[in-house]
Order: sequence, then structure tokens, then C-alpha cells
Amino acid sequence: MNYSIPRGTYDILPSQSHKWQYLIRRFQDLAAAYGYHEISTPIFEQSALFERSSGSSSDVVQKEMYRFLDRKGREFALRPEGTAPVVRSFIENSWDKTQGRTKLFYTGPMFRYDRPQAGRYRQFWQYGLEFFGSSHPFYDAEVIAFLWNFLSSLGLKKIHLEINSVGCPNCLKEYETALKAYYHPHLDELCGDCQNRFEVNPKRLLDCKVPSCGVIAQNAPSQLDYLDEDCRKHFEQVQHYLNLANIEFKVNPRIVRGLDYYSHTAFEVIFEGLGAQNTLAGGGRYNYLVQQMGGRATPAIGFAGGFERLLLALEEEGLALDTDLVPDVYAIAMGESAQKALMPIIFYLRNQGVKVDYDPEKTSFKAQMKAANSSHARYCLIIGEDELSSNSVILKNMETGEQQNVAMDKVSTHLLQIL
Ligand code: HAM
Repeated sequence: MNYSIPRGTYDILPSQSHKWQYLIRRFQDLAAAYGYHEISTPIFEQSALFERSSGSSSDVVQKEMYRFLDRKGREFALRPEGTAPVVRSFIENSWDKTQGRTKLFYTGPMFRYDRPQAGRYRQFWQYGLEFFGSSHPFYDAEVIAFLWNFLSSLGLKKIHLEINSVGCPNCLKEYETALKAYYHPHLDELCGDCQNRFEVNPKRLLDCKVPSCGVIAQNAPSQLDYLDEDCRKHFEQVQHYLNLANIEFKVNPRIVRGLDYYSHTAFEVIFEGLGAQNTLAGGGRYNYLVQQMGGRATPAIGFAGGFERLLLALEEEGLALDTDLVPDVYAIAMGESAQKALMPIIFYLRNQGVKVDYDPEKTSFKAQMKAANSSHARYCLIIGEDELSSNSVILKNMETGEQQNVAMDKVSTHLLQIL
């Protein structure tokens, strides 16, 4: 019998894994610079956690959750997203009572039973962060700036940021009344999903991908016209801080987000050129979720993005991230005595984190030099008979072709300085 990988999943093969590691490292480093600490939650949780938080009317919970019963008949789900588990942990650890500001980030696999296509998988990896403890609009801008800086620092050019305010429950009530009044005469023209949304979650009507529903949505009332004074001011201040941070954005009143917990600011980063799955990352405030889940009222904001879409976008822009495969140094030894002298240098450098390549099966100088050239190493380290007798090595800069003789016992320190 042949086994095949489950539909909508993939193996991260060695030819790709360095890219993943690179992106995860970049995210972790930037998170540290912004004062965020890593949190890791289980891959499965009680299904009720997601029903209660991510939203029983959301597609993610209604249609896409992998649910299962354990041996004692308790219902669990593979996590479809990271925010609900982080909030669960935040409350369980009493951080809502004992800590002021809390800055958490995570990376890891999420699961949604979605129709697989480019950029949409059933197991996908998210990077995300959650900030708890202040409703100051500065933090909205800070979280958005983090996301923007992470993506743009990778070299992506075809991205843009869209923001919106979905208001607070007070504004939402009025807005939903207006939306329903607008949609009521169109009820028969709506798709089946939208007819259900009309009843249970009218703002999701704006997000339907069915073209005929999209046409109706075009003239629907805008959320921004229904913000109360506080929500309007908050949104203005977020824009003010984004301007101070020099981050360009577009206000898009159509951003509603797919999960139910959002309030106030919502945002997405879009990549032009990924087809239907063009949202690289998205997030927003969720000022009422901690309390709704049994904790002390704590304002919060966060985002998450998918590594798969990010990799597709990087590829589309020709940003290969292959640098990790390139050795820093290619080592060449001519003869056994030279090899003996070279070994301690190679292992010492590797232990210091320098990527050194060496092939003992290539013995001729020509073959080794050819391998050095095709490895694209920055430096070549050569020991032949002359060098052995003078206790030195040749260090060749492969970019400029420049060569220098360096004392054998100094070459490692010298390389560590110049790399
Ligand atoms: P989300 O918009 O559902 O938000 O997902 C965030 C990102 O995860 C998407 O923009 C996309 O890049 C990626 N993603 C979602 N579904 C898939 C899929 N099936 N295949 C590949 N990538 C996918 C959340 O998950 C919220 N927890 C974000 C958040 C954090 N809001 C506040 N804090």
C-alpha cells in the first residue's frame, strides 16, 4: 500500500527548511527588539474555547475546525488560530490580574479544513503577536509598525497596508441595523452563506467572495459613518501615530476580518500578485475578549500572518532567501599534511558559527577551486606545501580575487573579525 501526504498539507523539505528557519529567526529577533516574549500553546484545545472566542458564527469555527473526541469523549479541536489559546493562557496564568502590559509572540502550525489552493492549506504556519494591557492608540500603531517593518525589511515591495475601525459593540449595534436595512430588499439575490450571515453576523456580508454579493456590498453603508465619538477619536489617533512612524496606509472601510472578537482597529497587509489569497497578514484590537472569556477586562491587540503566503510573495518578487545555503568559507588542502593542518581550523570556525565547506574526496587543486567557485563562498582558505613550510594559509576573497598570506594560528581570529 502506498501512503500519501494528507490533502492541503506539505513537507518542509531540506531545500526549503533554511528559508523557514531564516524567517522564524527574523521574526523572533524583531519581536525581541520590540520587547516581546515567546509563548507556545498546545496544538489542540477544548473546542469550546474557539466557539466562545474566535466566534461560533465565524466560518473558521462553523466549517473549518478539525474536531475530535478523546478516549473519554471530551471534545477537542486542532487550533485554527493562535489568539484564543494565548488569551486562555493569559487568563489561566492570572496575568490579567498580576501583570500590566504583556507582550507575547508565537510561531507554529494552525489547522483549518479549508479548500486547498495556492496560499491556502489545511495545516499552515502562523507568526503572530498579542499585546495586552492598554487601549492607547500608540500601541495599535506599534503593533502595525512591527508587522509592516517585518515584511518590508525582507525586501517586499508589492505590499500595502489597509486599516479600518470596526468600532465598539455600541457602534456595531447601530451599524448592523443600518446594514440590515440596506440588505433587506436584496435578500433573495444573496448567496446561501450570506442569507445566513444576514441573520447571525451581518457585518460579514461585506466580506463575501461571491461576485454578485460583492456588487451588492459596494453600496452598503460604511462602518466609519457609524463610529461613536470615542471610537472615531481612537481611529484618528491610530492614524496620527502611524504617520509619526512613517508608515503608509490606506483606510479601507470594507475590512471586517473573519473572526468575531475584533473591536476598534482592524488591519491587513495585502500583497499585489498572489491571486485570491493575497492577505499576507491581518489583525486588530480585541478589547472585550479577555473579559468575555472570564478574565478581568483587559484591552488587547495583535496580528498573525502565514509563512506560506510570505514565502510565495518573496518568491514572486525574486527574493530567494538562499543566502543561508552559501558557505562563508571554502577550505582547500593540498595533500595529507595540509589536510591535517586544516582540520582544527575548520572545526574551530564551525564551532564559532562560521559556515565552512570542505570536500576530502576532491584532491586536485583544480577540482577544489572549481567547487569553491560554485559554492559562492565569500572566502577561500588554501593550504599547500609552501604554506605548510611557512606556517601560513592563503586567504582569498572570492569577490575581489584578492589574496593574502595569514599566519596559520591567526587565521581563525582574522576570519571571525572580517566575516
Ligand atoms: P486570520 O486572518 O484568520 O487571523 O489569519 C491570519 C493569517 O494567517 C492570514 O492573513 C493568512 O496569511 C494566514 N492564513 C489563514 N488561513 C490560512 C490557510 N488556510 N492557509 C494558509 N495561510 C492561512 C488570525 O488568525 C488572528 N488570530 C490574527 C490575530 C491575532 N488577530 C489578533 N491577534
